[in-house]
Amino acid sequence: MEGTMDGAAMAGKDSALLGKTGAEPRAGDQEEGLILAVETSCDETAAAVVEGGTRIRSNIVSSQIAIHRRFGGVVPEVASRGHVEQITAVMAAALEDAGVHPQDLAAVAVTYGPGLVGALLVGLMAAKTFAWVHGLPLIGVHHIVGHLFAHRLAGGPEPPWLALVVSGGHTELIYIPNDHTFEVLGRTRDDAAGEAFDKTARALGLPYPGGPQIDALASSGDPERYPLPRSWLEEESLDFSFSGLKTAVLNLLNDARQRGDGVRPEDVAASFQAAVVEVLVEKTVRAVRRYPGVPVVVAGGVAANSALRRVMDRRAEEEGFLWSAPPLALCTDNAAMIAAAAWPRLSRGWFHGMDLNARANLGLEAWAAGTGWRRSRRMIRRMGGVATESLGSRSGHGGIRMGQRSVEAPVASMAG
Ligand code: KG4
Ligand code: ZN
Repeated sequence: MEGTMDGAAMAGKDSALLGKTGAEPRAGDQEEGLILAVETSCDETAAAVVEGGTRIRSNIVSSQIAIHRRFGGVVPEVASRGHVEQITAVMAAALEDAGVHPQDLAAVAVTYGPGLVGALLVGLMAAKTFAWVHGLPLIGVHHIVGHLFAHRLAGGPEPPWLALVVSGGHTELIYIPNDHTFEVLGRTRDDAAGEAFDKTARALGLPYPGGPQIDALASSGDPERYPLPRSWLEEESLDFSFSGLKTAVLNLLNDARQRGDGVRPEDVAASFQAAVVEVLVEKTVRAVRRYPGVPVVVAGGVAANSALRRVMDRRAEEEGFLWSAPPLALCTDNAAMIAAAAWPRLSRGWFHGMDLNARANLGLEAWAAGTGWRRSRRMIRRMGGVATESLGSRSGHGGIRMGQRSVEAPVASMAG
């Protein structure tokens, strides 16, 4: 089901990608809603096959971490080249592991932003080519929406729910009243939480990626040894800011160096981690107070952090809310989450054209509102549902009703 690959393991897998040019998708198989998804926004080359938006049939992640570690962080050009080398074999392995032929698929989903533009382009070109060759609809996915939907693959809550997305590139609190609406309540004004972990780790001389290193080191440290700042911003604000904390850690290390004193790296790691976690959790608690009774999902790579999980457990119990996080393998970048995020769009007959371009700064609101989407009556009929409203609607609980037949509402633009 899930797997990681290195170059050697992937040799000879390309043949599974070769299908009949222009093959028409089979209607029967489409009802299973098999989506092949591709993710290359940063340093993981990933492909997966997911059924019905929730059941993982395969999930292949080829990580470049070992390559980037040499440079102390992700080097964009190196990432792009790595994706070029891996993508074909990773996609082939995803199909092979799932036991799926291209003609069994209902659609191809791909991350087209936000992320490193060169890295995104590789996955996007591979997905477009595959979709075009096999006559499949293409669904472009926002990377953060992927993280948001990862929990669907592990039986997470149905809407409405609140998400704390904490990754190397993002820190956001989002209210999700339905599968198509994302209300950003707060976001970082400078560094992302994962970025702060990575930069602090680097200052401590730890290898990339720093989050897991700090987490491990902090387990034997004293979180109260160094008083570090917590940035709460304005009283009502659910925004975050971590650059002041990062600077405080750098000053602490420089001062100690100039005085000729040593610091205990374990205590620096624990004190830093405690400061990040306290702000993340307390802002989440503030968001829960605005939406009482709504469960919380913590998503993104930093959701793996053990202190974050511990403090969330304690505060959720004290405040009386439910929270969960996807399993670790689904918290970090993967393509199964991209398929899960594509599913609600596919089931409404929404897709993108072959002119879809990579967008380094793709906005969540623009993606959710349906900018650049096309809609197909034929796809809607194939999916067995009925379009009753447009995407991005704030009230939008109706949407497509799978398996029901009634009068179709006017469709925004016709293609296919
Ligand atoms: O979601 P992700 O795989 O990639 C992005 O979309 O950014 O997140 C990667 C980030 C890195 O900054 C990494 O240091 C952080 O997640 N991370 C952690 C832990 N595991 C990964 N941060 C803190 N504690 C961890 N255990
Ligand atoms: Zn990510």
